Amino acid sequence: MTSVPSELTLTGPLPLRGRLRLPGDKGISHRALLFAALADGPCRIVGLADGDDVHRTCRALEQLGVRVRTSEGAVVASGASGRLREPEQVVDCGNSGTTMRMLAGLVAAQPFQTVLTGDASLVTRPMARVVEPLRRMGAQIDGRDDGARAPLVVRGGPLDGARCELDVASGQVKTALVLAGLQAEGTTEVVEPHRSRDHTERLLGALGAPVEIVDDRTLRVRRATLPAFELDVPGDPSSAAFFAVGASVAPGSAIVLEGVSVNPGRVGFIDVLRRMGAAVEIRPTGDRLGEPVGDIEVTAAPLTGTTFSPEEGWIDEVPALAIAAAFADGVTEIHDAAELRVKESDRIGALAQELSQLGVRVEERPDGLRIHGGRPRAGLLKSHGDHRVAMAAAVAAIACDGESTVRGWQAVAASYPGFTDDLATLTGRVP
Ligand code: S3P
Repeated sequence: MTSVPSELTLTGPLPLRGRLRLPGDKGISHRALLFAALADGPCRIVGLADGDDVHRTCRALEQLGVRVRTSEGAVVASGASGRLREPEQVVDCGNSGTTMRMLAGLVAAQPFQTVLTGDASLVTRPMARVVEPLRRMGAQIDGRDDGARAPLVVRGGPLDGARCELDVASGQVKTALVLAGLQAEGTTEVVEPHRSRDHTERLLGALGAPVEIVDDRTLRVRRATLPAFELDVPGDPSSAAFFAVGASVAPGSAIVLEGVSVNPGRVGFIDVLRRMGAAVEIRPTGDRLGEPVGDIEVTAAPLTGTTFSPEEGWIDEVPALAIAAAFADGVTEIHDAAELRVKESDRIGALAQELSQLGVRVEERPDGLRIHGGRPRAGLLKSHGDHRVAMAAAVAAIACDGESTVRGWQAVAASYPGFTDDLATLTGRVP
């Protein structure tokens, strides 16, 4: 994996120009690997996300006996129809909440014990949302604060399908329950307060697995072995968001982001940008195992403030949108976004601090931010150990006049170790 320096220094303004193929979507990459563990033959995955989070899922699966190898530009994962083996060591999920929550569902039905832990941030993040419904299916899971936090000890065994009503809409939790449900007796029903991102349903639907979309909020799944598959992972819209905002706010920019997942649940951030006046076009180009793919074209345009509340499918794009707000004319209000406080960092607190560093007036609310846009000034910024805060800071830096430094830049390795190189491609300059 590319090694990433601990600081990034940029001298703006740096217009973004040209075409870029983004790394594979992180959420789809985790899913492809985990479903490969339940498949009845080797699965070939091209364009797997290359960040540390997805590496954690690869390594965890290897500990569980899945063969993961690289062959002719693809990752091939062979899971022997879900007959996994007990890991000899604790499974370290690093910074990756997706790895921990989804793995909990995979191993809950396996006849052995798995211990899941993570870094200083991950062991503080909420786990009851996945532990409680899995317990309803008969899973035996212990953890700190009665399973509310990792480390988690999963004593796997036979599971029974159950109706699981979730308090929080979460693509990670839904996928964990689907992974458990594919190995459980009877039918598992997942009911969410509103629908979370739907990559799991799309991929399993394309594979002919017994997953039924009952209504907007409800999914049913039955026991099944999955067929072997080949997938070319679409580009990550969450990574695209940083360049889309950068190209909107850095004058003189015009870019095309190629082959990105344009799943309607993921591109809601583009609607917000358009409402702010951004010039963004989506050009559909095809479909990959149920996932729509397209090119995203962005040209610089003056922005004005707006009001929005993110949905689960595109809550990861709020750090990028906060930078758009900082450069917009007028006030932007972000509300009903309290989930941001339990991501890789407290993103509401982190964004409030970093925007203030840029001289932006910002009011922090329990569930969001009120950002008074204008002309942010270059400065010294911090990542808060969070890849998306780091990339948001870099995007601000490219549009400010003068030199900015982002400390803790190595955090980008979680999802996008090649960000600096791709930024260099679009700016034509090596930072
Ligand atoms: C993800 C779901 C979201 C998102 C995360 C990836 C997924 O988390 O923030 O980056 O791949 O399903 P939650 O499930 O906690 O909402």
